[in-house]
Amino acid sequence: MTKTLLEDVKKIFKSTTGTPFLIPTTGTGAWESALTNTLSPGDRVVSFLIGQFSLLWIDQQQRLNFNVDVIESEWGQGANLEVLASKLAADTAHTIKAICIVHNETATGVTNNLAAVRKILDYYRHPALFLVDGVSSICALDFRMDEWGIDVALTGSQKALSLPTGMGIVCASPKALEASKTAKSVRVFFDWKDYLKFYKLGTFWPYTPSIQLLYGLRTALDLIFEEGLDNVIARHGRLAKATRLAVEAWGLKNCTQKEEWYSDTVTAVVVPPYIDSSEIVRRGWKRYNLSLGLGLNKVAGKVFRIGHLGNLNELQLLGCLAGVEMILKDVGYPVKLGSGVAAACAYLQNNIPMIPSRI
Ligand SMILES: Cc1ncc(COP(=O)(O)O)c(C=O)c1O
Repeated sequence: MTKTLLEDVKKIFKSTTGTPFLIPTTGTGAWESALTNTLSPGDRVVSFLIGQFSLLWIDQQQRLNFNVDVIESEWGQGANLEVLASKLAADTAHTIKAICIVHNETATGVTNNLAAVRKILDYYRHPALFLVDGVSSICALDFRMDEWGIDVALTGSQKALSLPTGMGIVCASPKALEASKTAKSVRVFFDWKDYLKFYKLGTFWPYTPSIQLLYGLRTALDLIFEEGLDNVIARHGRLAKATRLAVEAWGLKNCTQKEEWYSDTVTAVVVPPYIDSSEIVRRGWKRYNLSLGLGLNKVAGKVFRIGHLGNLNELQLLGCLAGVEMILKDVGYPVKLGSGVAAACAYLQNNIPMIPSRI
């Protein structure tokens, strides 16, 4: 079972050359696995700060004693790639050992352009490792590990795979595996070397695996492959577009400042200053049994988040949008009931394809 899982899981990264690790951990542990296996204390890494999850990853990088060169953007904006280009241009001595980027910043609903990062690295012929957090993107957004020359990509079981929390899924390129041979960061539980030893033996596990999550992963992958990964990605595109149309119809703003950064897995909705967005989330939970996401840190009280990733279909999303409309009315926002749902329906009715297995 593990052998076929390791083969199949590479498909969600769009990688044939990567080596996957299924680790009993969360996204945070997957971060640590990516960093400690490829880098040494004191190494200079460039990291983008655009929201709460990139902030937490940077905090981990600093606590692991890397020399973190932070490129900060306003929350709601994507990674500033012009600053990256200038840093790489100036770094002719190749002191930068890795670029760390969160593909989809779950706190603000911002998706970064990974192909553009690769282009910049190639333009300056810079050998830095390219480390990507794909926690809220992999299996939901277009993600091409091999084509974009990503060295370590990672996700967690609880996001687009729709599993319970508890498995970190990490995929390492041949270059990352090579780097792990000399990386000096202390690592024990997360050491890829132990996994690789057992992969060779064909017994696969250096410690007790989370067997229930392996069965879950098998089922999640089967469901995704049955629908077709590209169809899964297209479905996320539709869910996101429908959500954005509803937000527009309500007269509210997307936290994401430019269309090029719009996330197809989560939409952060900005509320007017006279409304506390946390009250919207509380109401959703207490009155309508609807789970919305809170605004985190800098955007606390200012945004609420609609998650639209994983095993979710269009009609389920419409239920959520209807719920949000009622909550908005409850908290005193002048919304016309049905306005967002109608905008979403008008779009979906023209764009939902037939279910291939039922034609
Ligand atoms: C983009 C991103 N990275 C990392 C994490 C951290 O993952 P975990 O909470 O599983 O440790 C999250 C959690 O939501 C996330 O959204």
